[in-house]
Amino acid sequence: MLAGKRILLIIGGGIAAYKCLELIRLLRGQGASVTPVMTRAAEEFVTPLSVSALAGEVVHRDLFDLTKEAEMGHIQLSRVADLVVVAPATADLMAKMAQGLASDLASTLLMATDTPVMIAPAMNVRMWEHPATQRNLAVLQGDGVRVVGPDVGDMACGEHGPGRMAEPAAVLAAIDTALGDGPLKGRRVLVTSGPTHEPIDPVRYIANRSSGAQGTAIAEALRDLGAEVVFVTGPADAARPAGVQVVEVETAREMREAVHAALPVAAGVFAAAVADWRVATASGSKIKKVNGALPVLEFAENPDILAEVSQMGAGRPALVVGFAAETDDVERHATAKRQRKGCDWIVANDVSPETGIMGGSENAVLLITADGTETWPRAAKAEVARRLAARMAEALR
Ligand code: CTP
Repeated sequence: MLAGKRILLIIGGGIAAYKCLELIRLLRGQGASVTPVMTRAAEEFVTPLSVSALAGEVVHRDLFDLTKEAEMGHIQLSRVADLVVVAPATADLMAKMAQGLASDLASTLLMATDTPVMIAPAMNVRMWEHPATQRNLAVLQGDGVRVVGPDVGDMACGEHGPGRMAEPAAVLAAIDTALGDGPLKGRRVLVTSGPTHEPIDPVRYIANRSSGAQGTAIAEALRDLGAEVVFVTGPADAARPAGVQVVEVETAREMREAVHAALPVAAGVFAAAVADWRVATASGSKIKKVNGALPVLEFAENPDILAEVSQMGAGRPALVVGFAAETDDVERHATAKRQRKGCDWIVANDVSPETGIMGGSENAVLLITADGTETWPRAAKAEVARRLAARMAEALR
């Protein structure tokens, strides 16, 4: 429920602007009040009259409206809300936000606000996939802007792909999460993610194919349930999640230090693909070719971070979740791994190359607990993450 919450809704100029009418209705139905702002382009798609009739408030349209400035200046307007929602967030609005332009009322409010901001992007698929938009998206996420959608599907322009604005009910759910208390509010959780790099010499290292996508999605899902997340990541490709504490490490030993420094936590999710071995004979200077002789590398075993945390006495997190990356006999290996390491749950997946899971956008996992094995359907990593986070919230209740 959003009773008493105030949303400043900035409507951008795109065909999806019509979805805002439904969004306003849903928000008001939940008890929220909506202060609407429209860009000039938005008025080409929906009329200010429809918007203000549904919102029950005047639509703010002009930066230089002296009457309104006298009643409520644009700075004050940007501060009255609990959340600023930009929907649809067009490529143009996203670019303005990423650049910090303040060239009309909408962009000026976004620059002046001190409240959290959420955007629901909507645009043609090529515009969404354009490197400039993706760059702007990364900047906005880095600034802590929450993003809902876009969805994949048929578009008004006749093309197919990502770019459709998220449905009003999904935007409402995201607003609910952003403003609600969330079942994990006040709980501190740890997530490890990504590969580790184990140096051979100052320029060479041993690594693995983990992209960090699943760990990142889990950190985001836990954050969205209100948790305070410490995200310890190796050198992963995936963009770092916004709104969490990020600790960058390189080697397994550095990851171990960072994990211990993050304790105590209510729960730990160990999604990192930690290198089992490091090069014991790592050289301090670049190894040179000498008369065709081949270098011999000796290995030492890395500390098993998951096993250490699972088996610590006092100070052990109430819930420890490990991952098992297997290429064969997944359930048997993973069940044995849960016992051996002493963690509460294991999320097991088949990382054989033909599954496309390692480095891909989907995952198909088994959840192994003391009660047995559950097979979860193959789904986007974000979906698997949301399901896991919801289960964790239930277990920590
Ligand atoms: N893990 C860890 N520290 C290590 C190795 C693994 O914390 N040094 C954690 C991983 O983050 C994961 C779990 O242990 O949650 C299992 O990792 P996995 O690579 O599947 O298992 P291994 O311990 O390497 O076991 P095996 O070699 O038998 O597959």
